[in-house]
Amino acid sequence: MANVVVVGAQWGDEGKGKIVDWLSTAADVVVRFQGGHNAGHTLVIDGKVFKLALLPSGIVRPGKLSVIGNGVVLDPHHLLAEIDKLRQQGVEITPDNLKIAENVSLILALHRELDAHRESATDTGVKIGTTKRGIGPAYEDKVGRRAIRLTDLAEPDYLDEKIERLLSHHDPLRRGLGLEPLSHAAIRDELMSVADKVLPYMAVTFDLLDTARRDGKRILFEGAQGALLDVDHGTYPFVTSSNTVAGAAATGSGLGPKAIGYVLGIAKAYTTRVGGGPFPTELHDEIGQLIGDKGHEYGVNTGRRRRCGWFDAVLVRQTVKTSGIDGIALTKLDILDGFDEIKICVGYKLDGKDIAYLPAGQAAQARVEPVYETFPGWEGATGGARSWADLPAQAIKYVRYIEELIGAPVALLSTSPERDDTILVQNPFQD
Ligand code: IMP
Repeated sequence: MANVVVVGAQWGDEGKGKIVDWLSTAADVVVRFQGGHNAGHTLVIDGKVFKLALLPSGIVRPGKLSVIGNGVVLDPHHLLAEIDKLRQQGVEITPDNLKIAENVSLILALHRELDAHRESATDTGVKIGTTKRGIGPAYEDKVGRRAIRLTDLAEPDYLDEKIERLLSHHDPLRRGLGLEPLSHAAIRDELMSVADKVLPYMAVTFDLLDTARRDGKRILFEGAQGALLDVDHGTYPFVTSSNTVAGAAATGSGLGPKAIGYVLGIAKAYTTRVGGGPFPTELHDEIGQLIGDKGHEYGVNTGRRRRCGWFDAVLVRQTVKTSGIDGIALTKLDILDGFDEIKICVGYKLDGKDIAYLPAGQAAQARVEPVYETFPGWEGATGGARSWADLPAQAIKYVRYIEELIGAPVALLSTSPERDDTILVQNPFQD
């Protein structure tokens, strides 16, 4: 029985929430392994909408264990607020069904402030368009070996030393940026104000996941963002600050790579991105507008309108390689219903030459021009279809062509936000 990793195969917002929820009914454990509350996962269950940013999607299903792994950056204030919000919606969350890694790094107010300050600065030359949730600065402190981790809250006697270490970096940085100095006491108060509420969830998660694995439990690793936002493999520097590719599930949960069985990539039948950065197939015309309107392309967390464009097979083919994707869940095909013609990007031109991948350089990424093939649209609706037989023949051709171009099969086809509007071709858990 394979454990399954779900990753975004584009720039995030591919509809992972629904697919993870769909798969979570067959899983025993759901694990977040990277990112933080910059994610926005929408689940629609029996008409009730749940919006999650930090908690694993399994939390809304009774009887599942939800784990926040060490690879996540955890904002304790946000965690408590999200727990409260879900409890008000009738979701039960206790230290029995939610476990957080001892060695998870914390996002503090100073990280949020720094993130927002950098985003508002106009003289940096590069506007990433972050979610301003402190994700980047928190990961910087983690790799800079000065982060405060969850386990540190359990040892208040040693906190002062850690806060000093953090300040020895942030004080000069803030002085240079013209920001007010930080108060040691305020950081300590901030940490101690949440310690008693968050510590009950702390656990030795690498060990409990290892036990679950040995006991034959099914583990679902829930990726956030998308592979093109990966700090190594994405459109750097317009990326998030974690590894979002499937390999991160191993390091971000404390399990070895053999714990990962099937890699499911989620891709929309078109492409979207929020924030800055290259987007070769972006549409600046009324078609892009229409896709955005029909697809309700607004960020779950920030409300920002997403940029929209045609399906880019070059990018998804690249992601299939960098994440080792076994199968794709294709979402939002219904948004293309009613189009006279649909374009697919099958290659790029860079300075007059044909290339079959996205180059790593920032300037080259901005210069590539998409090479399109035009596909006739289909009559009739794919929305709500529950079997291939319900799909127009031309829509099936579109899906088959995507499979051919990206080098991976479509394992699931999602035809509406409702969980049952899903066509299953291959169950990832029964690979
Ligand atoms: P950060 O993760 O807040 O640092 O933002 C870095 C980049 O990742 C920005 O372009 C964000 O718009 C993008 N990003 C972060 N989280 C998500 C997500 O869940 N969906 C889509 N884009 C995201």
